[in-house]
Amino acid sequence: MRIPWWQTAVVYQIYPRSFADSDGDGVGDLAGVTARLDHLAWLGVDALWLSPIFRSPMADFGYDVSDYTDVDPVFGSLEDLDHLVAEAHARGIRVVLDWVPNHTSDQHPWFDASRSSREDPKRDWYVWRDGGGPDRPPNEWAAAFVEPARWTRDPATGELRRQPDATGGTDHTGTAWTWDEGTEQWYLHLFLPEQPDLDWSNPEVEAAMHDVLRFWLDRGIDGFRADVVHMIGKDVGEGLETMPQSDIGKGEAVHALLRRIRTLLDGYEGDRMMVGEVFLLDPAEMATFYGTRDELHLSFNFAPLFTRWRADRWRRRIEESERFVPPEVGWPTWVLSNHDTVRHADRYGSEARARAAAVLLLTLRGTPFLYAGEELGLFDAEVPVDRIVDPGGRDGCRAPIPWTRSSDHGWGPEPWLPFPPAPAEHSLEARRDDPRSILHLYRRLLAARRASPALHRGDVVLLDTPEGVLAYDRVAGDDVRRVVVNFTGEQVAVPDLLAGWWVEVDSGLDGERPAGSALGPDEALVLTRE
Ligand code: NOJ
Repeated sequence: MRIPWWQTAVVYQIYPRSFADSDGDGVGDLAGVTARLDHLAWLGVDALWLSPIFRSPMADFGYDVSDYTDVDPVFGSLEDLDHLVAEAHARGIRVVLDWVPNHTSDQHPWFDASRSSREDPKRDWYVWRDGGGPDRPPNEWAAAFVEPARWTRDPATGELRRQPDATGGTDHTGTAWTWDEGTEQWYLHLFLPEQPDLDWSNPEVEAAMHDVLRFWLDRGIDGFRADVVHMIGKDVGEGLETMPQSDIGKGEAVHALLRRIRTLLDGYEGDRMMVGEVFLLDPAEMATFYGTRDELHLSFNFAPLFTRWRADRWRRRIEESERFVPPEVGWPTWVLSNHDTVRHADRYGSEARARAAAVLLLTLRGTPFLYAGEELGLFDAEVPVDRIVDPGGRDGCRAPIPWTRSSDHGWGPEPWLPFPPAPAEHSLEARRDDPRSILHLYRRLLAARRASPALHRGDVVLLDTPEGVLAYDRVAGDDVRRVVVNFTGEQVAVPDLLAGWWVEVDSGLDGERPAGSALGPDEALVLTRE
C-alpha cells in the first residue's frame, strides 16, 4: 500500500517571529528561515510548518489575518516565500502553512464591509446579533485570553502544572461579543475583539476560503495546519443563543465542511495534507475529526501537552490513541510543545526528562510535531512584565532561538522578546559542538526512525513493566524495535525487558548507563534485537 508522506514524516514547527532574523530588526523573517534550512536538513526533518505569515495587524501575532493571499511585510514578500519553498523542496523538506479559518482580523476588508451596514452583502459573512441591546450580549460565551493560563511548579516533582482557566461567568467583561456602535449589533469573537468569527454556514464564506486554499496549493504549498478548525461548524442559527460554549465543535456541520475541504485537497497531486488544530482534549471527540478517512488527514492530539511525567499517565495516552485512532480511522499525531504552551523541558523540569520525552515523541505510532528549539533543550524565557506582548501571556515559549554563543546569539541588537535561559549554552553552535547534547540525540532518533519501518509505521504493543516504567514494541513484519522509558528519578532493574536486546539509542549521557540490566533515572532506550 502506498503510504502518504505525512504519515512517515516528522514535522518541525517554526514560529517565524522567533526563528531567525535576516535583517536585524529583531523579528524573525522568511529569509531567516531560508538561511537556516541546512540546520533542518542536517537534523533530518521531513516537513516544516510555518505559524502564520499572512498579512496581519498582529493583535494575535498573525492569527488575525487581514489578507489571506499575501505575506506580511514584517516576514518578507511572496517572492521570499516562493524562494523558501523552492529551497526547502530542493532539500526534500515539505512546507505547510498555517491557515486561520475560524476568524479574520477586524481589519480584513471582508469585516470592513460587514460592519459598514446591516444591508451590506457581507453582513452575514460574520455573526451579528441584537442580544438584549448594548448592555446585554447575546449569550454567556467567553473570549479566550480573558485570563492567561497560570502554571505553578510542584515542589515535590519539579513539574509545572496548569491551573484551570477561569473564564466564563455572567459579567460580560471577557465576553465573546463586541457591541458595534455604528450598526447597533454585537459581533461574535471567540478570541480577541480584533478577531471576529466568520459564519461558515454562509456558502460565500466557504467558497472564499476554498479560493484561499487553492491559491496556496497552486503555488506549491504541501499542506495546511488549520487553526481551531473544530470551531468553524458552530451552529449560528437560532440555537446559538442557548448553546453551551462547551458544545462548540460537537455539531454535525463541521464534518460536512471538512469533507469538502478534504475533497479539494485530495484533488491535487502530491498528497496535500491538512492537520487540524482540534482543541478538544477528549481523545474520542478529537478522533471524530478524521471522519471515515474523509475529513482531516491528521488531527492534533493535545492531551499529551497536559500529561504529567508519569508512566501510568503516558500509558493511558497511548492506549487512548490506539483505541480512538486505530488504522481504520486515521493516523495519530504526537506533540509535546508548541507556541501556545510552556515548553515541555520546562514543564517536566529537567533536561534529562526532556531527553527521555524526545525518545517517546519520536518512537510512538503517529506523526510527531517538533517545536523549533526543543532540539536545543530550550526552556521558556522569563519575560519581565513590561516586556510581555502576547494577550494570552504565551511569550515565554516564543523566545528567539539562540543560534550562536556570541552575545547577540545571531540576532540584531534588540530581539522582540528576551532569550531563553542560558542562551549561549543552549545555542545551536554549542549543541552542535557537543556530540552528547540533546541536539545530537534528536538527530540520532530521527535517523533511527527513518531507517526503521517498525519505528515510522509499525504497530505498537504495550508491555508489562515494573511501576514507573513504560515499555512498548514497535513491529512492522520482521523489523522490531523496543522502547523502554524510566519515568522515575531512581534506577530501576528491568532484566526481562532488556534481555536479548541491544541499545540503539540512549537518552542518557554517554558513559552514564548503569551497569547490567537497569535503567538510569529518567532514562529512555530504543532497543533492537541482538
Ligand atoms: C490557536 C493558535 O495556536 C493560537 O496561537 C491562537 O491565538 C488561537 N488559535 C486563535 O487563532
